[in-house]
This record gives sequence, C-alpha cells and structure tokens, in this order.
Amino acid sequence: MYDEEESLIVSTKTEYDEVENILRPKSMDGYVGQEKVKTNLSVFMQAAKLRGEPLDHVLLYGPPGLGKTTLAHIIAAEMGVQIKVTSGPSIEKSGDLAAILTNLNEGDVLFIDEIHRLNHNVEEILYPAMEDYSLDFIIGKGPSARSVQIPLKRFTLVGATTRAGMLSSPLRDRFGVICRLEMYSTEELSEIVRRSAVTLGTDIESAAAREIAKRSRGTPRIVNRLLKRVRDFSSVMEHETITLADAKHALDRLEIDELGLDNIDIRLLTSMIEKFGGGPVGLDTLAATINEDANTIEDVYEPYLLQLGFISRSPRGRLAMAKAYEHLGKPVPKTVKPQISIFDEE
Ligand SMILES: Nc1ncnc2c1ncn2[C@@H]1O[C@H](COP(=O)(O)OP(=O)(O)O)[C@@H](O)[C@H]1O
Ligand SMILES: [Mg+2]
Repeated sequence: MYDEEESLIVSTKTEYDEVENILRPKSMDGYVGQEKVKTNLSVFMQAAKLRGEPLDHVLLYGPPGLGKTTLAHIIAAEMGVQIKVTSGPSIEKSGDLAAILTNLNEGDVLFIDEIHRLNHNVEEILYPAMEDYSLDFIIGKGPSARSVQIPLKRFTLVGATTRAGMLSSPLRDRFGVICRLEMYSTEELSEIVRRSAVTLGTDIESAAAREIAKRSRGTPRIVNRLLKRVRDFSSVMEHETITLADAKHALDRLEIDELGLDNIDIRLLTSMIEKFGGGPVGLDTLAATINEDANTIEDVYEPYLLQLGFISRSPRGRLAMAKAYEHLGKPVPKTVKPQISIFDEE
C-alpha cells in the first residue's frame, strides 16, 4: 500500500526542492506558457537594456507553483545581473533590509518572496529605496533629530506573492510592472512533463504525459512532482517507458482523481455540501471542520476549485456550485445556481 503522510500538493519536503531546482528552466525560451507575461517582460527588459538602465520593479503574483521564483531567476539571467534572494518573513528588522540593499550592485535583482509578509517597519525602508534608490534614516531624537540619506545602486526589486490583495497600496504602487501568472493549460503542462522527462532521463509516452498534465491542477510544480512519483511506480515495474497505463495506475494509487483533486479537495467539497447545505460558509469555519489550515486552503486549494467553477466566493462565504455536486455524484439542489455568483470578488 502506498502511503504518504503529506499531500503531494502542499508538500514542503526537501526531496521535492531538489527536483524543483533541477527542473527549473534557466531562460525565457525554456519557460513554457504565460505568453502575455513573457512578451511584456521581454519588451521591458530589452528597453531597459537599450537605455542602459535597470529594469523597473516587477511584482509577480499568483497561486503557489506557477513559476514566480523561476521567473525571477530568469529575469536576472536575461538582464545579465546577479540575483539576491530573500523573503518577507525572513527580514525581521529594517537594518537587515538596509544591509541587503547596500550590498547590491548596479542593476542587480533583489527577489523578495512572500512580499506580502514584510513587516511594516521593514516595508517603509523599501519605499524610498524603490523610488529614489536611497535609504532614508532619522538619526537622534527630538529637536536634534536629523534625516540622513544614503544613496543606493540602481537595482530591480522583484516581489512575489500569492496574495496581491494583501499588499499595501503604497508598496503595490511602487512596482512599475505587475504580472499575474495564470494557471497552465493541459497542453502547456504536457510540454513541461516532456521537457522534465528529458532532464530526468526518462522516456514517457505522450498520452502518459497528457494524463499527468490533466491531473496537475494547472500547476507546473505539481506536474513535476506527479511525474516523479509516476516514474517511481514505472521503474519498480521495470518499464523502460512510462506508459499511459503506468500513469493512470500510479495516479489512482496516489488518490489524485481525474481532475487532479485529492482527498483534501474532496473533503472540503463534501463538507460544504453535506454540513453547510452548499454554503455560504466562512473560510475559517470550513477549515476547522475539515481540520486543515485556512491559509493553505485559501492559497493552494481554492484557486483551482474556483478555476474549475466548483466553488465561488461571496461576501457571506464560500458557495458550492452545481459542478461540484455533479463531480461528487450528488443531486444538484434547485437553489444552486449553475453559474458563478455575481458577487464574486475576483
Ligand atoms: N513556465 C514554466 N515552464 C516550465 N517549468 C516551470 C514553469 N513554471 C514553473 N515551472 C516549474 O515548476 C516548479 C515550481 O516553480 P516556482 O517558480 O518555484 O513556483 P512559485 O515560485 O510560483 O511557487 C519549478 O521547479 C519549475 O521547474
Ligand atoms: Mg516560489
């Protein structure tokens, strides 16, 4: 029996980090999909190079695993500069950020992951740094206090967040380029599977690649994890090529259904329908009922369920839509609207 404590969808195991780094495309050419974002960024990067200026500050947002970190590295590589990586929660004091900023070279990329989790004092250091490439300090107290400015090298801030709505507006307004990453199509994910298989030195039938893609929730991180697991099953059976049957067998064993839903999604939907009459039900109530973390549900599970049209958000809470009832094989109550509610936030 295959057992894994942690869900493949939210796992933070280092085993996956290693694969992730190996499979990260290093250039725009290898970065599949997100055509609009790629085209726009390429224009801005070319223009910045022509003017001999650093690229404008870039904000990348979208659900986990869609390629924000990867894109930040590609931006630095394409601009031919160094990248310094940090994250919102890891910068505790404004002095820590000041130290990072003063160490940047002309044109460098500073990547701040989870930028919505910067604390307020640290965030305030960023405003003049982003706007005027300057650190502004107040030294002393009372009448003898004076402000001191330290000039910085011109750098590019690349911020990533799963929650653009949680960014303060003064911070958001200081990004010249804001890119929203979209979920990937099955074709794009199949392409990623084929490329990853080449990198991992594995043969895979294209129907198998497609099957993995279909069950990956529009997310490259998940497609790569599933490929790795499927490959394990296939090598145990001493198959030289991953066949469609191998893929189906492995994915069924992993309890990933044909739409990519795992048991947390199913529990979430079942609970909405059976315990809350289809909603509206608040996120925290729902999270407590199925004993999962509310942030994980909001960041990881909901985006895909929203994309599928299985749930919608209303000011009074989450609602299960007709498609969710149908997927679970439950009769659709007459009161459930077939379409997305007009109260949707997004
Ligand atoms: N556009 C893409 N093309 C190919 N692989 C991708 C793409 N976007 C992401 N990946 C793969 O998915 C994994 C997760 O991407 P990552 O950039 O870490 O996501 P995020 O930072 O948004 O959570 C990486 O290993 C990377 O190889
Ligand atoms: Mg990331």
